[in-house]
Amino acid sequence: MKLCIIGTGYVGLVSGACFSDLGNDVICVDKDINKIKNLKKGVIPIYEPGLEELVKKNYKSGRLVFTSDLKEAVSKSNIIFICVGTPTKKNSYGADLNQIYSVAKEISSYIKSSKIIITKSTAPLTTGDKIEKIISKKVKKKLFSVVSNPEFLREGEAIRDFIYPDRVVIGTSNKRSNRILKSLYSPLISKGAKYFNTSRRGAELIKYASNAFLATKITFINEIANLCEKTDVNVEDISIGMGLDKRIGGRFLRAGPAYGGSCFPKDTRAIFDTAKKFKSDLSIIKSVIKSNENRSKLLLVRVSNILKNKIKNKKITFLGVTFKANTDDMRESSSLKMIPSLAKKGAIIKYYDPTGTKKEFQNLKNVFFSQNIKSACDDADLIIICTEWNDFKSLNFKSLSKKKNFIIFDMRNILSQERIKKDKIKYFGIGR
Ligand code: UDX
Repeated sequence: MKLCIIGTGYVGLVSGACFSDLGNDVICVDKDINKIKNLKKGVIPIYEPGLEELVKKNYKSGRLVFTSDLKEAVSKSNIIFICVGTPTKKNSYGADLNQIYSVAKEISSYIKSSKIIITKSTAPLTTGDKIEKIISKKVKKKLFSVVSNPEFLREGEAIRDFIYPDRVVIGTSNKRSNRILKSLYSPLISKGAKYFNTSRRGAELIKYASNAFLATKITFINEIANLCEKTDVNVEDISIGMGLDKRIGGRFLRAGPAYGGSCFPKDTRAIFDTAKKFKSDLSIIKSVIKSNENRSKLLLVRVSNILKNKIKNKKITFLGVTFKANTDDMRESSSLKMIPSLAKKGAIIKYYDPTGTKKEFQNLKNVFFSQNIKSACDDADLIIICTEWNDFKSLNFKSLSKKKNFIIFDMRNILSQERIKKDKIKYFGIGR
């Protein structure tokens, strides 16, 4: 099929590369001319394992094309995916939909034959109705249909999540569009993905409700971990014990720092904002947002307790600063709150991350990037594991540090406790 993908960020570029790899002709459009120039040279703007090879392979085959010419891309395609950003508005919980609406307005001038317009970006309940209204100002209703097809891609696993999704959710009551999209996704369905057709608003809400529920699961186990720390219980046993109940499931029950990233924080706020507009109270999600926002403060108190309230001039090392492993994304990472706060209290901070130095810390006094794990750890009083990179999981800390009595605060519970005990290292975990 002939697809046009508007927006070449995480969702657009991954979707475009994967759809072209499934044999479709894909035109990826972005108004950022430099981004398009780089993509043509095989320079990928995001850190996503496997994406560079996939883009290069399909660009070379001619199935994947990059352009800034939206008019040409729309005229050559019959299915148009809107994959532009829907960030949280400043000083609000609401999603900023300006990019989506301006794309809808622009493409309405280019629609001269039957098109299916699909929002893949995470767009709040009723966004499809508004897109339909914008386009129908210039285009007869029978010439287009607006469909919601939310993505469920995790950063760092996006290609796998696209090719092997649990489900493909298609929000439309238009029979023809449903039939065409079922055929577009048939290669994934034949590999076991479930295809679920619902109303457009139903698909929009499924996305938000899913992310809000996952964020609730994480916040739930994080609060249980707080209780475990006070009662000498290992939260990992609780996660396993709970997860063996198929109604609960073991995934997304790993206690850690606050959840971060571009999705959970944004989507929990957006669904709460939407519900408020419809005078419906989502009190559980509201408390999840508050609990997660407070978590970094709570972890800073733990750091203070570990250092017996003596932070000034203490040498603290952060291993990993991204919001999770296998991504270079810093959005809403716990390190963004913890490092500046500790530096302000006079600590001397070194950090190491496999994805390199971070602009977020470059102007902070007493915060330094280390080129490797050894130079990051060698003179630390406290080593904090903030991101669960594989690089940190089997380190021999005894050989890394020149100090005898350094302490480890493992905020991801990735180190083996028997190994730590054998090496007689002072260790603190989360909920264990
Ligand atoms: C999430 C959803 O998983 C994905 O379906 C959606 O499309 C986009 O948002 P992402 O934000 O990329 O994906 O990362 P995810 O792996 O879900 O992790 C989100 C946050 O939760 C991270 O900070 C991660 O460290 C944290 N997390 C995740 C936990 O603390 N514990 C867990 O068990 C799982």
